Amino acid sequence: MASAGDTKQPAALPPETAREVIDPKAYAEWDGLLDTFDRLREEAPVAKVMPETEGLFEPFWLVTRYDDVMRISKDNAAFLNNPRPVVFSFNQAIEFSRAATGSDMLVDSLVVFDAPIHPKYRRLTQDWFMPRNLGRIEEEIRALAHRTVDAMIEKGGEIDFVKEVSGPYPLRVVMQILGVPPEDEPRMQMLTQQLFGGQDADLSGTGMENMTPEQVVQLVAGAVKSFEDYFAKLAEDRRAHPTEDVASVIANATVDGEPLPPRDMAGYYIIVATAGHDTTSASTAGAMQALANDPEQWERVKADRSLLPGIVEEAIRWTTPVQHFMRTAAEDCEVGGQQVKKGDWLMINYVAANHDPAQFDNPRKFDAARSPNRHLAFGAGAHQCLGLHLARLEMRLLFEALLDKVASVAPAGEAKRASSTFVGGLKTLPLRITPE
Ligand code: HEM
Repeated sequence: MASAGDTKQPAALPPETAREVIDPKAYAEWDGLLDTFDRLREEAPVAKVMPETEGLFEPFWLVTRYDDVMRISKDNAAFLNNPRPVVFSFNQAIEFSRAATGSDMLVDSLVVFDAPIHPKYRRLTQDWFMPRNLGRIEEEIRALAHRTVDAMIEKGGEIDFVKEVSGPYPLRVVMQILGVPPEDEPRMQMLTQQLFGGQDADLSGTGMENMTPEQVVQLVAGAVKSFEDYFAKLAEDRRAHPTEDVASVIANATVDGEPLPPRDMAGYYIIVATAGHDTTSASTAGAMQALANDPEQWERVKADRSLLPGIVEEAIRWTTPVQHFMRTAAEDCEVGGQQVKKGDWLMINYVAANHDPAQFDNPRKFDAARSPNRHLAFGAGAHQCLGLHLARLEMRLLFEALLDKVASVAPAGEAKRASSTFVGGLKTLPLRITPE
């Protein structure tokens, strides 16, 4: 492997490592993957990943150090989201998308745009997602958090925390702000999981292990089409009967004096509908797993609620549900000692960055009192997560309800992570709950 200071073109990562960093199953294993990232940060912090089979995917640079991921995220002029797919994709998937939509991406949304379009689209909903506006819906979310915890306690004893709590709660919040009625939630959940977790046999609903890239992309394309049809009807309704929800903001928005084209409008709904729940769910479940394994920390937070914002932040860092995004270099440049050429593709790996010991002491430890905690789980720069205040609010309110109503929590079986390179985290978390 090339050393960190080497500015020559490096040897590509050995095939077994290259395979691992794009293998959804490696992300389900987690600890082994973190070991690999530890090694890469030391030995090849900006490492070339080449396909073993020609044409399988475009080569890319894997970026694992916190400082490099931060720099790339913040320099939105030098590292572009467009035109290459913003998440890791096989060439077959890109070709399929091109044939189906004329674009390399199946969905056009905020994450696909760069300046000057991106700020115009982002501005449309930015204020809606700021704390001042979210204050309007805080009581509703608090009530939902309490209802969710009450229902969990009523079930009693051993529960799957993901199924009963961390899954449905953020889904309901996002669907509420989009004005999607509760009876349509299971459909939204399934479509989101097909979009993000298409690589996981349980989550995709196919039960199929080892789907080919073509099968995955067909599943994803089907999910996109269903979303588009659903949200076209919703937008029509909100144009006729606007309310204060974010669905109405999007339906009635204009950019440069024109309403959004149908593909962009669908993309806006899809990103809000999908980005907001499996992510928050994964962070919430991860925190509960950590606390169930460490009763002393649970007791400490129960006794001192001032630790709560810290718990939320640490949960988000420790789980890092959005595991990577991709960027394309706009110019020749140097990153971490490597010469990156204009047009090169880069994977900014948030999991690796958030476990960088140069930034976080003992990074694998869940530490409710970690300070400072300047994690990169929400990204940074112009694309930094639009929903970060909502995610923090939801998690704080849920943990307040849990700490009020649950005396103790303990593991009750094997927790399982999703097989996914993009949005990952726990898909089951068996816990034994003892109410107050
Ligand atoms: C973008 C993470 C919750 C909506 C992002 C990005 C990350 C991220 C890493 C890309 C940042 C970048 O490229 O620099 C997370 C995590 C969450 C979470 C870890 C929960 C713990 C939410 C919620 C919503 C949301 C609740 C909304 C309901 C979005 C949107 C974008 C985004 C719309 C695209 C922003 C843009 O490109 O301008 N999120 N997110 N996210 N997130 Fe989140």
